Amino acid sequence: MIAALCLVLLSGLAQAADTRMAIDLNEEQKGFVLGHMRDMLEALTDAQQLLLAGDRDELQSRITRLQSHEQASRPKGMGQQIPPAFRAMAQSMRPHWQAIKNPATPESEVRQHMVDLMRVCNACHRTFAVQ
Ligand code: HEC
Repeated sequence: MIAALCLVLLSGLAQAADTRMAIDLNEEQKGFVLGHMRDMLEALTDAQQLLLAGDRDELQSRITRLQSHEQASRPKGMGQQIPPAFRAMAQSMRPHWQAIKNPATPESEVRQHMVDLMRVCNACHRTFAVQ
């Protein structure tokens, strides 16, 4: 009984604590943004495996594939509607993706860029929600 009460209280607190800024998107835009998010997680997973295998050429094409797919599937006119802070955070991922995909980047630096990239993922997830 007390445990149940605690759970109810805790979930209420968790909801009250969600102060993330909501980004308003239509269905098509939401489908694109969330789909691209899942693609990035998959690409980052593959990138780590390819780095372990030392296959830097395949790593480069894996990330190129992610980037071309993003460009080809992005709904038109989305840029204007998205808050500048969200766009800026999305753009700050780019140098990391570029360094990771460049076969000339030393492996230890690629690893550091992967961590820094994931810090951007996490910072954005703490700040924004999709509505
Ligand atoms: C510019 C902001 C931003 C960045 C950068 C970002 N995300 Fe997201 N991501 C979001 C938002 C907003 C959501 C929706 C969360 C919500 O509404 O609760 C989301 C959702 C997701 C989801 C869930 C998708 C689904 O189908 O519900 C995954 C997986 C994800 N992100 C992975 C990543 C990864 C991996 C990175 C970094 C490589 C990343 N994201 C970077 C903003 C961002």
